[in-house]
Amino acid sequence: MTARIQPSILSADFVNMQRDVGAIATADAVHVDVMDNHFVPNLTFGLEMVTRVQAVSPIPLDVHLMITDVDRWAPGYAELGAFSVTFHAEATSEPVALARRLRAVGARAGLALKPGTELTPYLELLREFDQLLIMTVEPGFGGQSFNADMLPKVAAARAAIDAAKLDVWLQVDGGVTTETIGRAAEAGADTFVAGSSVYGAANAADAIAALRDAAAARHAH
Ligand code: DX5
Ligand code: ZN
Repeated sequence: MTARIQPSILSADFVNMQRDVGAIATADAVHVDVMDNHFVPNLTFGLEMVTRVQAVSPIPLDVHLMITDVDRWAPGYAELGAFSVTFHAEATSEPVALARRLRAVGARAGLALKPGTELTPYLELLREFDQLLIMTVEPGFGGQSFNADMLPKVAAARAAIDAAKLDVWLQVDGGVTTETIGRAAEAGADTFVAGSSVYGAANAADAIAALRDAAAARHAH
């Protein structure tokens, strides 16, 4: 299995977004962190901005919605052409209905869990999704440290996905670096978001390659 690397434009230069999306063309997708200053304390951008990123991006968009009103807003991201749209389990009481709406528009549907949210109640819903995001930091800000306490949750998710023979990508987000990606890969993650470790590097393409190598090295064991 090849690790999917998805740099987060939360760490890009917001007035040079086209340049910074172009700089990660060797990655598998652009991770787009939408924050509403309500579900999380931070605020980023919305549909208008993401429509423009979609128009100029050389690679698909993996949208991560950290917003409260997902039932109202999530389908719009699928409609603008995002490859994948992930919403938080904590933000809706109707996750399956929303996943079906996203898939009906042609996007992959993702379910995200904050660090404090139990995995078990959501395992039976996984067949309705294409991706499960296990947050390895509290959502809201880039540049936080990887929470290794989430590794058993990743391993439990991997075991459940494999046992049910589901084709669900297992994504981790928060504090992913060449130091931490190996442990996440070993626990069973296959899709990795990295913000500050890619955009904070001298060369983004080199940082993406280094993350791929570090993930693959651990998988080979
Ligand atoms: C955090 C965001 C992440 C963030 C990751 O709320 O969901 O995608 O950009 O940033 P780093 O990789 O710096 O932890
Ligand atoms: Zn994110």
